[in-house]
Parts: sequence; C-alpha cells; structure tokens
Amino acid sequence: VSSIDGLPTPALLLDLDILERNLERMAARAAALGVRLRPHLKTHKCVEVAALQRDRGAAGVTVSTLYEAAVFADHGFDDITWAFPVILSRVEEAIELAARIRLGLVIDSATAVDALASCHPGGEPLRVWLKVDCGYHRAGVAPDSDELLALPRAIASADNLHFAGILSHSGHGYDAIGRPQMQAIAEQERAVMVDAAQRIRDAGVPVPEVSVGSTPAMSVVDSLIGVTEARPGNYAFYDYTQCLLGSCEPEDCAVSVLASVVSRMPGHSVVDAGALALSKDPGPERSAAGMGPVHAEDGLTLDPDLHLTSLSQEHGIVSRPLPVGTRLRIQPNHSCLTVACFDEYQVVRRGEVVDRWKIWRGR
Ligand SMILES: Cc1ncc(COP(=O)(O)O)c(C=O)c1O
Repeated sequence: VSSIDGLPTPALLLDLDILERNLERMAARAAALGVRLRPHLKTHKCVEVAALQRDRGAAGVTVSTLYEAAVFADHGFDDITWAFPVILSRVEEAIELAARIRLGLVIDSATAVDALASCHPGGEPLRVWLKVDCGYHRAGVAPDSDELLALPRAIASADNLHFAGILSHSGHGYDAIGRPQMQAIAEQERAVMVDAAQRIRDAGVPVPEVSVGSTPAMSVVDSLIGVTEARPGNYAFYDYTQCLLGSCEPEDCAVSVLASVVSRMPGHSVVDAGALALSKDPGPERSAAGMGPVHAEDGLTLDPDLHLTSLSQEHGIVSRPLPVGTRLRIQPNHSCLTVACFDEYQVVRRGEVVDRWKIWRGR
C-alpha cells in the first residue's frame, strides 16, 4: 500500500470501490431485466476485473480481438464470444482456440459463412452468431434483407457449424440526446432483434440466443423481453462521454489519468498526458470539456472550466497556466481507448494504491 502522491506520472488510476459498485449495479440490472450478462472485456482488458464480473454472475464474456480471447482463455475463461465480424485470415487461429473453449464467432456475410463451412474444427461444431444491424449501420445484415434468413439457413445446414443466435450493438445510442431518445434506441434494438429472431424461427431455423448490448442502452432500457443476453462493456468504468449521455453520474467514473504539469506558458500549461495516454477521442460534440475535464490530484474539482484543450503525442494542453509540478487528475472522454494506452492500472481504494493490475493490450 502506498499513497497516490508518490506515483510517477502519467499513471492510470482505477478506483476499486467505484468499480465494484458499477459491476454490482449492472449485474442487478441484468437480473431484473431477466437477461444473462456477458460483459465486453475490451473496456478493461484485465483478468482481475473480469474475475470480479464473473464473481457477480457474468455468464461468459465478450471480446473484440482474438488476442483478448486467447489471453482470457489462458486465464480460465472458457465461454467467450469474439464479437467482431470474423477476420478471414485468422480463421485457423480461431479454430485452434475453439478446440479449447466455447468460442462464439460472428459473421454478417455469405463469404464468411463459406470460409467457416469449409474448415475442419475437428471437435464440436463452431458456434456462429449472425450480426444484425439494429440501426447503428456499422456492421450486420439489414433486418429486412434476404440474408437475414439465408445466412442462418446456411450455417444450420453446415455439419461443422452451429447457429448460436443473433447479435447486435446499439452504438447509435452514443448520438442520443437525452434519456427519452436513448430509451427509444434501446427499445428499437430489442424490437428489431426479437422480430428478426421470430422470422428466422418461422423460416425453420432455431434461434437459441438473442444478444444485445451497449452501456447507454443498458442503463435506460425498461424491458428486454425476448432477449437472452446483454453485452455492455463500458459500464465497468464509465467516462466523461457516459456522464454527458446520462448513463452515469460523475462519481461513477472509475478510471482517471494522473498527470503532472511540466511546462507553464502565458496562456496554458502542458501536462505529461497526451494522445498516447488519453487517446484522441473528442467525446460528444456538445462537450465543453475539450479532450477531458481536469481535476485536482485527489479527484476533487479545481475549477469547472479547467480542461484539456488539445493533445499531441505526449503533450496535453491544459486551458490555464499552472505551476510546474502541479499534479492533476484527468477524466477521460473514452475510458476504453484510454486504458488501451497503459500497461497497468494503479488500483486505488480510499486514496491509497493497493495493487497493480496488468492491462493485456497486445494484438
Ligand atoms: C459488438 C459490441 N458489443 C458490445 C459492445 C459494448 O458496448 P459499450 O462499450 O457501449 O458497453 C461493443 C462496443 O463497442 C461492441 O462493439
């Protein structure tokens, strides 16, 4: 145990009390909504955090890269969905991993189904999910397309494949303004997915699972009838973007970047946290806090107008001149991208550093 004021900067702080509260709240929410929780681990990339989620009832986990899948498999997580359209040049690696654990793969094209159908898993059939576009328009088959029925049929008729179900991500929730708009997006996702599942069933293909998920939608949704699991990720830490969206309160943000002023200029100061500590996510357009709000070292507000105005690789520009050596805490606009800049968390409980946890950020 040591104190925060002894830490070299930049450092990534993780507040354990806040983390545990966030995990408990989402676990309770999923239980109340009658869905299993399969948290997305890309937010934290940390075995210790995933273990806390599993202790609170998470049924399987979600990852965004095959590297994450392999790391968590090596640490005893044996039910993993790789929630990313399968990368054809990595199918062999995926098959090797699927021989060890219950691995879910995601497709949204006939090309990917053909590639999987022509491989030889050698054991259990590969578990394949169909990604459905629930309104975000990033990836997934359109719910009114012929592919919605054709791809499940193709999967179900391949001996080496098992149709696991349909999966969506309501990322357009990040553009919502206000709770009613967010609720409408969450309900749209549910309705699109439940209707899509019904049409696939009517076409003669069983749909065991209907999986939805994003942190904004999960924080406001009233009903998930017809859905079997949810995959939020960011809720473990939240961030300034989620505060502006209304998914959380500022006191729910579990990670921050501890930084020091290294240069004082007439109109600003420079800290040792640039784009490679915070990422360049600008947050929602309506953010007045630029690249992130800045607090005192103890996390308390110094001045509501103090924020990062811009970032270069290692320099962060703070909106006011401050004495060299001043230690500050920056609240990230996007915790997932910020975490991916660091090798470890400084785990903090009530102002003391109590542990260090590795961030598995390889590719
Ligand atoms: C496919 C998929 N599922 C789930 C999530 C988790 O969403 P969130 O980070 O809003 O919790 C993401 C996030 O990007 C995603 O891409």
